[in-house]
Amino acid sequence: MASSARRTARRSPLHGFAVDARDDASEVLTALYAALAERWTDGGFFRHSVSALADDRTAEAAWLDLGFGRSGAFAARRLETPVAPGPAPHIEVREATSEDIEVVSRLTHVNVRHHRTTPILWPYLRETDAALHAFEAQALADEANVAFVAYQEGRPVALQLYLRAGFGAEMAHPERSVYLFEAVVNEAARNTGIGSALLAHGLGWARDQGYEVCTLHYATANPSGRRFWQRHGFVRLVHSMGRHVDERIAWARAYEDEGE
Ligand SMILES: CC(C)(COP(=O)(O)OP(=O)(O)OC[C@H]1O[C@@H](n2cnc3c(N)ncnc32)[C@H](O)[C@@H]1OP(=O)(O)O)[C@@H](O)C(=O)NCCC(=O)NCCS
Repeated sequence: MASSARRTARRSPLHGFAVDARDDASEVLTALYAALAERWTDGGFFRHSVSALADDRTAEAAWLDLGFGRSGAFAARRLETPVAPGPAPHIEVREATSEDIEVVSRLTHVNVRHHRTTPILWPYLRETDAALHAFEAQALADEANVAFVAYQEGRPVALQLYLRAGFGAEMAHPERSVYLFEAVVNEAARNTGIGSALLAHGLGWARDQGYEVCTLHYATANPSGRRFWQRHGFVRLVHSMGRHVDERIAWARAYEDEGE
């Protein structure tokens, strides 16, 4: 799944740094990042990202001072409390099989296109379509995963795809957790309770399977997703933070010696 973003990006994972509580996190992280950032930019990597524990405010403040901002959140919700019932929409929920791959794929693209919109503004790279389609086909074929599709008057209007194996930092994954890879409702059907009803269905299924926690990722700039997950009790565990270094640093260096 090559993309221009990946080709110019470098990432430090959650276990990529640790600071002794007796030390000044800001000083330590500045020194560490200074060394790393020079190597990355010299190598042509201008998009830098780090993962940091959401409740580590000291480290977060240090990354903010270094020019980073939040881009994504890894969040979790315990399953013992069911989703609060809202106004029940008229939907029929069916479990998708491999034969429903095109239905799943179409709804996935509604979600991908949503992430192209402002203020999220993630590029919609058509070159990744085939890889995403293949990933979802494989996910549907594996009985450990489950995809629920909501139908309204026979038309598919919403999708939630739960995976056994999670994404992101393994050390942040709670025990007995299921990963919600995809959640989307067709634009015209939003704000009518379908997302909540499908979540109640999905988390109920997960609880019956013996899972204790549901995890997921969302873009912190996604207004509908952020609000929805927070309202349904998902708590942030990890933040992805990013910095985009001005690429002109690469060629502007040629002028640095001119004044000497
Ligand atoms: C996030 C998303 C899945 C939520 O689904 P949804 O069906 O819109 O969610 P609901 O309708 O259950 O809840 C949304 C709001 O509608 C309100 N609502 C639900 N039924 C309602 C009704 N009959 N009348 C009025 N309001 C209603 C809810 O109270 C909620 O309001 P709140 O945000 O003020 O709490 C959907 O907005 C979506 O697909 N967004 C784009 C893709 C996306 O961001 N996906 C998540 C990626 S991480």
